Amino acid sequence: MKKTILTGLRPTGNLHLGHLFGAGINYVKMQEDYDFFLEIADVQALTDNFENPEKVRYNVYEITKDLLAIGIDPKKVHIFIQSKIPEIAELTIFYSNLVTVSRLFRNPTVKNEVSQKKELFGNDGESITYGFLGYPVSQAADITVFNGEYVPVGDDQLPLLEQCREIVRKFNNIYGEVLTEPQQVLSTTSRLKGLDGNEKMGKSLGNAIFLVDDEETISKKVMAAVTDPQKIKKDDKANPNICMVYYYHKLVTKEDQLKTVCQECKNGTRGCVQCKKELINNLNQFLKPIKDRRKQYEENPNLVKEILNEGTNYAKNIAKENMQKIKEAMKIDY
Ligand code: TRP
Ligand code: SF4
Repeated sequence: MKKTILTGLRPTGNLHLGHLFGAGINYVKMQEDYDFFLEIADVQALTDNFENPEKVRYNVYEITKDLLAIGIDPKKVHIFIQSKIPEIAELTIFYSNLVTVSRLFRNPTVKNEVSQKKELFGNDGESITYGFLGYPVSQAADITVFNGEYVPVGDDQLPLLEQCREIVRKFNNIYGEVLTEPQQVLSTTSRLKGLDGNEKMGKSLGNAIFLVDDEETISKKVMAAVTDPQKIKKDDKANPNICMVYYYHKLVTKEDQLKTVCQECKNGTRGCVQCKKELINNLNQFLKPIKDRRKQYEENPNLVKEILNEGTNYAKNIAKENMQKIKEAMKIDY
């Protein structure tokens, strides 16, 4: 029997290279060995986008196409829409008795996100909604309603997984050993820096290359990338290790060309403009098969809907089965 793995993505924007190198490549590898549930977390996305339902809806399809484009195989992975599985919402309510409000306020991930969303939740989080405060509870339901054993998430999500494990332990203590405590799957890659050198890559920061970016957009972004500030003229010697162009070369450039980039940069025989042009070229080549695959789905939106329907139906059946056991344990299986 394959182990069950579950992860989710908030449909709030397209995938960028950070998602691909930080997570997507791992998903594609893991789909071979696990029973893989991939949730498009539209309900969770609404917790901080409740005023923008069109944005969330649009991105459900965008993100699904991105996932298929990077090589997620819908025959191996159950891609499903969170809101189509009402068992998740139901279980969230049951779990809400097992979590204190103060514990949620202390959750580092929640705290951090609230402090980044002052416009929505106020300067000191005084306008935080019940829904946003409770999203870790809903995320625990996401995982456990499918009996998720492994969860591949970044370190920023660890407090949410810990919260889930606490809920599971409490549930099992009170109602009997029904739920599985999920474990983190450690990522073998680390977070990708932005083109500006920022530790985080993101849409709002304007420092990300999206999988759907066209050649002109990629060219503009790379031309504006941060290089070694000491290098002004072509024959200035520079340090590639503090240059974001080199950082991206390392991701997409073949070994021998990469060595040349490094040597010539250090020797002062390479100009940054030339270096950036080569990177643009390599990025376009790297993204070509992804874009080609994406195009097939863009041209056939019904196929995307079918894939989501199939994944959702499969997920729904598993959720139903597990829900029955959960309700029996809670004595609400009338
Ligand atoms: N909170 C996750 C994020 O923002 C998305 C998510 C939703 C998730 N449900 C999940 C991750 C379940 C892991 C497991 O990236
Ligand atoms: Fe960066 Fe290339 Fe310029 Fe060196 S030559 S500083 S690696 S852009």
